[in-house]
Amino acid sequence: MRQTAIGKTQVEVGAIAYGCWRFAESSVEDADAKIRAALDAGMTLIDTADIYGFGEPRGFGGAEAVLGDVLARDPGLRSRMILATKGGITPPRPYDSSYDYLTEAMDASLSRLQTDRVDLYQIHRPDLTAPVEETARALNDIVSSGKARFIGVSNYTVPQTRALQAHLDAPLVSTQPEFSALHQDPIIDGTFDWCSETGATALAWSPLAGGDIPRLSSDHPRGAEVIACLQKIAEAHSASVSNIALAFTLKHQAKIIPIIGTQNLERITDSAKAAEINLSARDFYDIVEAYRGEAMP
Ligand SMILES: NC(=O)c1ccc[n+]([C@@H]2O[C@H](COP(=O)([O-])OP(=O)(O)OC[C@H]3O[C@@H](n4cnc5c(N)ncnc54)[C@H](OP(=O)(O)O)[C@@H]3O)[C@@H](O)[C@H]2O)c1
Repeated sequence: MRQTAIGKTQVEVGAIAYGCWRFAESSVEDADAKIRAALDAGMTLIDTADIYGFGEPRGFGGAEAVLGDVLARDPGLRSRMILATKGGITPPRPYDSSYDYLTEAMDASLSRLQTDRVDLYQIHRPDLTAPVEETARALNDIVSSGKARFIGVSNYTVPQTRALQAHLDAPLVSTQPEFSALHQDPIIDGTFDWCSETGATALAWSPLAGGDIPRLSSDHPRGAEVIACLQKIAEAHSASVSNIALAFTLKHQAKIIPIIGTQNLERITDSAKAAEINLSARDFYDIVEAYRGEAMP
């Protein structure tokens, strides 16, 4: 699979990433098969979070723990992936990015993942009560102690991202917004422009709108038009609607890596084909216009 650099680092990963949000109910054997399918398909960035599993039988930390068990079974696997996790969502508070919390959360994630360090540690959502200086101090310590090679944010506005960056010793190499043909806000809210400005990578979460796109069903006001547009382009490219939707996220000029979340082995493998689809600019704008409900100005 073609490669994309993480921020301005020398570290490259596959153009499509694999996420473990829906992992918590997997047996270790099933999780192992999904991770191997993703890595074999070239999806070398593996994204998880400490909160994944909360509200399900395994509970908070459950998805990390399963991934940790997968890594423990085959120590060689860890070196095949760029491992990303997140911390900072703490129900029912609901967010905590204080120094003490993040420092402990980082150690707890490493322990569950059964590894000495992650490649990317992300603040999952901005905490409106923790002083930004404190959050930055925690991240500075996480990097200087070697517990994470790189740091990033998720669901941050651009001003929130800049405010945090102002207190950090190291650059934020990534931001993780929701982005798909059915959630196009990062195109216009400045998130992708901030990536272009700083060289950071955007990790697009739920690039198939959590399954709405392949199921051809959405309650978004423009959902029917967007899905019809994706279907038309899919036909012209002899590709699946899902892969056209992934190719859409890859066509924007900013450095964007969609994180897919299917639990189906065949779909993991098939998704890799999306990295080879080069949509025309007209295809891209057709999807943007279907979402906008009007032609570009
Ligand atoms: N930062 C954040 O706040 C945040 C939030 C959400 C997610 N994320 C990240 O993004 C990753 C991906 O999120 P996601 O799982 O929502 O991504 P997604 O790829 O948009 O959606 C995956 C869902 O689509 C379904 N699907 C895919 N292909 C299908 C098909 N052909 N027919 C029917 N259903 C299909 C999957 O079901 P099957 O399993 O049956 O294929 C799965 O339920 C997560 O794992 C996580 O790493 C981050």
